Amino acid sequence: MLNNTDHLNILVKTLPGLETVLAREIKALGGRQVRERKRAVSCMGDLGFVYKANLWLRTALRVLVTLEETKIRNEKELYKKVLALPWEDLFEVHKSIAIDATVFSRQFKNSLFVAQRTKDAIADRFREKANGQRPNVNTTQPDIRINIHLNQERLTISLDSSGESLHKRNYRQRVDRAPINEVLAAGLIALSGWDKKSDFVDPMCGSGTLLIEAAFMAYNLPPNVFRKSFCFRNWRNFDDELFNLIFEKSLEKETTFNGKIIGFDSDRRVLSKARQNIRRALMQDQIEVYEADLTQFDQQEVLPPQGTAIFNPPYDVKLSANVEELYYQISNSLKDNFKGYNVWVFSASAEGLKKIHLKADTKIPLMNAKLESWLVGYTIFK
Ligand SMILES: C[S@@+](CC[C@H](N)C(=O)[O-])C[C@H]1O[C@@H](n2cnc3c(N)ncnc32)[C@H](O)[C@@H]1O
Repeated sequence: MLNNTDHLNILVKTLPGLETVLAREIKALGGRQVRERKRAVSCMGDLGFVYKANLWLRTALRVLVTLEETKIRNEKELYKKVLALPWEDLFEVHKSIAIDATVFSRQFKNSLFVAQRTKDAIADRFREKANGQRPNVNTTQPDIRINIHLNQERLTISLDSSGESLHKRNYRQRVDRAPINEVLAAGLIALSGWDKKSDFVDPMCGSGTLLIEAAFMAYNLPPNVFRKSFCFRNWRNFDDELFNLIFEKSLEKETTFNGKIIGFDSDRRVLSKARQNIRRALMQDQIEVYEADLTQFDQQEVLPPQGTAIFNPPYDVKLSANVEELYYQISNSLKDNFKGYNVWVFSASAEGLKKIHLKADTKIPLMNAKLESWLVGYTIFK
C-alpha cells in the first residue's frame, strides 16, 4: 500500500454463506490469488481494483487493504507496530478517524482497549510528524476507517476503503419491517442461479430490495452506482481521474434485458415504499409491482408463466399473526401458480418451512442478521 499500489493485499468481507459467490465475483472483476476465508475472501489487486470492487461487488460488505501483517505479544508491541507505520503518508491530519477492532486472543481480551491503543499510537505519530496536531476521532462518519484484526498473536492492520458498509447502496430510504440487507438480497439471487435473462418474481416484495438488486444484475449495472461516499476518496493517494474513468466505464457496461422483473405484496402501504425505492434506483421502467395477496395469484394475469421466484415471507409472529398458516398458503400457491418455475423460499422459520409440502432440491444455510435462516429451492414441474 505504501510503496506499491499495484500489488495490494485485499480482504473483502461478506456475510456467512456468501463466500463462494463473492469469490466468483472477485475473479470475474479481475482479482488475483482469490481465496475464500471465513466471512471474507482475500485477493490481490491494484488501486483501480479497489475502486472497482467498491462499485461492483454485489456481495461485499467492505473492502480492506492490508498495511501490515505481523506478530505481537503484548500491548506495548501493538502500540509500537502501529506507531511505526507512516500514517501521515496515508491521510492528512485534518481527516477524522475511527478504529474497528476484532480480537480473538488470549492476551488481548478487550477489543475496545485494542482500538484505544491503536488510536493513541496514530495520534502520537501525527503529533510528532504534524507539528503537534492529531486527527480527531469520529465513530459515526469518519473520513478514514482503520481495521485491526488480532487472531491470537497475529496482528493485521488494514485501511478500510469502503467506510460505511457497502450494503448501504443509497437507493433505499423508505424501509419497512424486516427489509432484507441488500448484500444478502444480491447473494440470494446469485445462489438461486437465476440466468438474468428469464423473468424474475418476488411474490412478497416488501420494500423491493430483491427486485432492485435483480434489476442491477439484469442490466449489468454496478450496485453502488448511487453511493457517494467511499473512504478511499479521503486517502492521500486518491486518484480522482482513475476513479472517474472506472465509474464512466462501469456505466458503459450496461446491457439490455428482455425479461420481466415483477413484485407483489398484499400490503398497500409497503408497496408505496417499494415504489419510492424503485424510483430512487431509477428502475421504475424496469420493475413492475402490484398489490396482491398470494392466495389470489391465480387471478394475476401479470404473473409470468415461468421464471425464477424468490419468496421472503414473514418469519415470526411479530410480522405475521399466523406464520404456519401463511407458509401453508405459500405451499398451495407454489403448486397452483408457480408451475414451471425455479422457486426459492428464504426464511428464518424452521416451523414455517416444514409447512411447505414439496420436495426441496436444495437447502442452503445462511444468516439473516443474527437469525439462522435457510434458502430452500424447489423445482415446480408443469
Ligand atoms: C419479510 S417481508 C419482505 C421483505 C423484503 N424482502 C424487503 O427487502 O423489504 C415479508 C412481506 O410479505 C408480505 N406479505 C405477508 N403476507 C402476505 C400475503 N399473504 N401475500 C402477499 N404478501 C404478503 C408483507 O406485507 C411483507 O412486506
